[in-house]
Amino acid sequence: MKFSRIVGTGSYLPEKVLSNEELSKSVDTSDEWIRERTGIRQRHIVADGQYTSDLALNASLQALDAAGIHADDLDLIVLATSTPDVVFPSTASILQEKLNVRGCGAFDVQAVCAGFAYALSVADQFIKAGTCQNVLVIGAETFSRILDWTDRTTCVLFGDGAGAVVLTGGDKAGLHSTHIHADGRFQDLLHVPTGVSKQYNEMFKAQTAVQMNGQKVFKWAVREMSALAIKTLEENGLNADDVDWMVPHQANFRIIEAVASKVGVPMERVVVTVQDHGNTSAASVPLALDTAVRDGRVQPGDKILLEAFGGGFTWGSALITM
Ligand code: ACO
Repeated sequence: MKFSRIVGTGSYLPEKVLSNEELSKSVDTSDEWIRERTGIRQRHIVADGQYTSDLALNASLQALDAAGIHADDLDLIVLATSTPDVVFPSTASILQEKLNVRGCGAFDVQAVCAGFAYALSVADQFIKAGTCQNVLVIGAETFSRILDWTDRTTCVLFGDGAGAVVLTGGDKAGLHSTHIHADGRFQDLLHVPTGVSKQYNEMFKAQTAVQMNGQKVFKWAVREMSALAIKTLEENGLNADDVDWMVPHQANFRIIEAVASKVGVPMERVVVTVQDHGNTSAASVPLALDTAVRDGRVQPGDKILLEAFGGGFTWGSALITM
């Protein structure tokens, strides 16, 4: 039985301090009221040009240092935030680049104030399962960017900062259990009512669309998907002839064709549905797989090679027996 343990911790607060007194100059509140009601005296606020990933980086470097683990030795980065740097890539991907490491998994978890508990729980499962040995878990926020600084009922309460831990797997139990819960009925009691899917374009008129360097994406997609597909087969002791179907991300027929050619799977055994629905992003692989199952191409017992590539960059694969 494998367990995860916290072997290093770190934290970071932005330099700028905003005291209750200072705050009370711009909003109708007082040091006394805030301290009496909340115990808060001051908060730290990010500088212009400083983002959630910057806070996360500082906290992570501390945690890694405390753990005596180099960033190269990380198997996974799980970052909890409700204030990501950008819509995508994930703040975890941005952090990975800032840590100057390559290849390990990196993703965000969104559970607002409970986010770190969620991220820790997720990381724990990866270690207990034996998938990962070293996982960096971060909670990082720039709430100052989503506050109404004229609303005294909220702006006095929040600040910016980050904390991180390194989890490592071993025989000795560190985390004995993790627990996560949610109840969506109470979302209106504490929320940000606008977001990516809701009212986003009305809120921001500039830079809301996807921006892409098509040629570079094409090259990286072919290179990484084909390499990963080959590695996936090798690790399962298989070759291209053993695969009944390749079900690739449906972004571009030419990318699909190029990858299939490099991997050595003939196009007759590649599921292509991009013509019917274009690039549906994360939906494209399961959509294509379902299509092939429903129309009878994919049969029980078939071996399926899935692969995908996306912004971040991110990429992944799976070998499945149906
Ligand atoms: N300064 C001065 N007066 C204020 C301020 C302020 N910053 N904010 C509200 N008031 C006024 C109100 O308008 C009200 O005035 P009124 O009596 O004339 O109507 C009065 O103070 C009392 O307001 P209440 O909201 O009843 O004050 P309360 O004692 O409940 O304290 C507080 C408010 C501090 C927000 C408290 O309810 C609290 O701490 N709630 C938890 C909120 C929280 O922690 N959120 C973080 C995210 S969730 C989490 O992390 C757990």
